[in-house]
Amino acid sequence: MSNKHDLLEDKKIPLNILFKRTWKYIAQEKGAFILSLLLIIVTVFLGVILPRLTGYYTDYIASSAPKLNMILILAFGALFLTLLTQLFVYLETMILTKAGQRIVYSLRMVVFEHIESMSQNQFNDMSVGSLVTRVCNYTSQLSEFFTNVLVKIIKNLLTVIIVYIWMMVLSYKLAAVLSIVVVFIFIISYIFSINIHKVYTKERKQISDLNTYLNESISGMRIVQLFQQEKKFEKVFDKKNNDYFKTKYMVTIVFSGYRPLVSFIYIASIALVIYFGCKYNLGVGVIVSFYLFLDFFFEPVQQLADQLNQITRAISAIERLYNLLDLEPEVVDTPEAIEVSHFNGKIEFSHVKFAYDNENYILDDVSFVINPGETAAFVGATGAGKSTILNLIVRNFEPQSGHIYIDDIDIKDIKLSSLRRLTGQMLQDVFLFSGTIKENITLFDDSYTDEEVWDAIKYVNADKFIEHLENGLETKVIEKGENFSTGQRQLLSFARTILHKPQIMILDEATANIDTETEIAIQSSLNKISNIGTMLVVAHRLSTIQNADQIIVIDHGHILEQGNHQELIAKQGYYYNLYKLQFDK
Ligand SMILES: Nc1ncnc2c1ncn2[C@@H]1O[C@H](COP(=O)(O)OP(=O)(O)OP(=O)(O)O)[C@@H](O)[C@H]1O
Ligand SMILES: [Mg+2]
Repeated sequence: MSNKHDLLEDKKIPLNILFKRTWKYIAQEKGAFILSLLLIIVTVFLGVILPRLTGYYTDYIASSAPKLNMILILAFGALFLTLLTQLFVYLETMILTKAGQRIVYSLRMVVFEHIESMSQNQFNDMSVGSLVTRVCNYTSQLSEFFTNVLVKIIKNLLTVIIVYIWMMVLSYKLAAVLSIVVVFIFIISYIFSINIHKVYTKERKQISDLNTYLNESISGMRIVQLFQQEKKFEKVFDKKNNDYFKTKYMVTIVFSGYRPLVSFIYIASIALVIYFGCKYNLGVGVIVSFYLFLDFFFEPVQQLADQLNQITRAISAIERLYNLLDLEPEVVDTPEAIEVSHFNGKIEFSHVKFAYDNENYILDDVSFVINPGETAAFVGATGAGKSTILNLIVRNFEPQSGHIYIDDIDIKDIKLSSLRRLTGQMLQDVFLFSGTIKENITLFDDSYTDEEVWDAIKYVNADKFIEHLENGLETKVIEKGENFSTGQRQLLSFARTILHKPQIMILDEATANIDTETEIAIQSSLNKISNIGTMLVVAHRLSTIQNADQIIVIDHGHILEQGNHQELIAKQGYYYNLYKLQFDK
């Protein structure tokens, strides 16, 4: 089990390994990449021919006797070249974007499947926010990289190289002068890019902070108003708002310095071209070509500086994704794990010790046996460890020591899929997905018929309220089920558990928010369900569990008392006192 803070720690992965792992995904799209690389090379060539052609035209037109026919041919030639270039640009963009998106699609799938395989304890150790950020941000950063950045890097690099070679051919002296400009522009752009991204990162963090705070304040506005804390919340909001404002202002400052500087260097370069062009006697055509070439490498060089930065960020994004993928699922099937199709329902805890954090033992040497067909009830103060015991049975968590057996098989040797299919767990905190009532009960499994769903609903007496809903089973459930009462949510979750026909039923405060009359009705129908072997129940209302075959009293992770209702009453201990308290009410 892992420590809270190092679970999502960023670990460095050597570049070669990073590349090897990513190659697996890139290789799927090898064909697309090679094809688009060829297209890119062609478009870059076609692109840089134009400035040089324009140079020739200029010379021709400036010559003594230009012929109209020839000019027309030249003009249409240029038009045709441009058209061809754009067609190729279109093709390469389509092919590369699709390939890039497919890579990111596979990565996203792999990450999602990985998250599904992780155990509850691992979720316990990382914040949902950071997990969501990881999956969303990093995959979208990679998506951007593969679809946009990569093409542009290749294109820009090729353009700069070809243009430069051509300039060297035309006049190596002028090319040498301009190379100083290139280096200068690159350095300035690189520094700019680093700074602007720092500010952007800060901006993103601050806006997300601001939104989170806004979200929380609005959700909790009822409490804020009730306790008249508006001014205090306003102050915090003001600070966050102000921070964001300052960062936004920084963005403007950084940009407003960079843009004029680049423009100035551009104009200065034109001056250099004209000055040295005349000085070295290069002729109008060459000078025009150089002038147009300037445009061709100014942009790419600026972009390359930024792209160098984007490569660094893509590397760190993929590194973090791999960090997440490298987290081994804690609860996995052993190679010897067996498939089980039926449980009689004997459950045994043998000297089980468990701590969520590896240090503070929540369960300390817990042993008990529940026989097939029995109903066992767990009783104890809040925080005693009742839910923890139930969680261990379905291997949401793994005990540090001791064993848990179902039908005398160690649950570690049972396939997780079997274990979870045969046990129905109704958790203390009900979770509903956004969707319809039916989808929430079937968990989006279309193989259940409406009759089966209604049967489950009737078992838990939820038909009384669902029948009154205009859209019945198709009624929409909004986020977290907020359009239903707490008790109704429990009934829906109860129906979900029943529908999946468990052989061991785990009910953690399943009826805590349901009125007594409905609760009694549910209990009597539960007794009629034949597929349920053993039932484990936690309830604070003792009336619910009086008829249980055994009552296990938990206190600070120990078993304090154990027996049926009569035995425990006779004992006059913890349970007796608890019962008297509730009874006297
Ligand atoms: N996910 C968790 N991570 C860390 N500690 C936990 C976690 N869940 C429970 N605990 C701790 O374990 C102890 C036992 O919790 P548990 O939920 O088993 O109590 P319980 O008996 O079910 O209480 P209640 O009657 O309130 O439901 C508590 O002290 C709680 O702080
Ligand atoms: Mg509990």
